[in-house]
Amino acid sequence: MQIIDGKKISEELKSAIALEVSGLNSKPGLAVILVGDNAASKVYVNNKEKGCQEVGFNSIKINRDENTTEKELLQLIQDLNNDETIDGILVQLPLPNHIDTKKVIEAIDPIKDVDGFHKENMGRLLQNNPTLRPCTPRGVMTMLEKSNINPSGLDAVVIGASNIVGRPMAIELLNAGATVTICHSKTQDLPGKVKSADIVVAAVGIPRFVQADWLKKGSIVIDVGINRLETGELVGDVDFDQAKDVVNAITPVPGGVGPMTIATLLENTLLAHKYRNKL
Ligand code: GUN
Repeated sequence: MQIIDGKKISEELKSAIALEVSGLNSKPGLAVILVGDNAASKVYVNNKEKGCQEVGFNSIKINRDENTTEKELLQLIQDLNNDETIDGILVQLPLPNHIDTKKVIEAIDPIKDVDGFHKENMGRLLQNNPTLRPCTPRGVMTMLEKSNINPSGLDAVVIGASNIVGRPMAIELLNAGATVTICHSKTQDLPGKVKSADIVVAAVGIPRFVQADWLKKGSIVIDVGINRLETGELVGDVDFDQAKDVVNAITPVPGGVGPMTIATLLENTLLAHKYRNKL
C-alpha cells in the first residue's frame, strides 16, 4: 500500500520551477484577488502567495472588501489584463453572492487564466488540446504520473461535478485513457458505482463521506476534500483510516492534493509567462 505524498511531490515541482525561474530574464508575476473575508479563502490565498515567494515569482495580493461591486471587480481585472508585469490572474472563489462568478471568470484574458476556468481554456481541455489546465485536476494527474499510475484503460469514478474540480478532473482522466463515470448528488447507488472503480477521485466536501466498504480492493483513491471538523482537525472526503487497509494507493489529508494545487498554480503561472514572452 502506497500513501501518495503530495507534499513531497509538490516540493520537487517547486524546486524545478525555482531552478527554471533563476535562468529567466524576467520573473513570472501572479495577481491573486480575494473579495471579502472567507476564512478558508484567506488561508488558500496566503499559501498561494507563499508559494510564489518560494519559487521566485513576483506576486501581488489584492484584497477587496465584501461590498465591492461587480463593476469594480471587472475594472480591476481589466487593469490586470493590461498590466505587462502580470502573467497570471487568479480570483479566489467563492465570490460574494451579488457578483456573477461566470462574468468575472470570462473577463480574465485566457492567456493569463492560470486557474484554467475560462471557457476557452475549459473548451480546449474538453477537446484534448489544453494549454492552461485547472490546477487541482492537473495536480492530481501529476501525482498519478509521479506515482507511476497510468489511468489508461482503468475505470475511474469522480465523485463531484463542480466546474473547479469534478468536471475538469473527469476530462483529464478521459484524456489519459480512463473510462470515466461522473457521480453527483442525484447519482443512484453511489457505493455500487464506487465499487466498480480502479481509481476514485472524491471531491464532495463532506468529511469522511466515502466509506472503506464502498472501495474495490486494490483501488487507487484520490481525496480532494479539505474539511475542518469542529475539533479543528482537517479531514478528507474519504474515511482514510479504514480505507488505507483496502486500497493500493491513497492520498492523505492534509499533505495530499492540497499542496499539489498550489504547486500546479505555480507551474501554470510559469507556463503563462512563457506563452506571453514566446519562450
Ligand atoms: N476555490 C477553491 N478552489 C479554488 C481554485 O482552485 N481556484 C480559485 N480561484 N478558487 C478556488
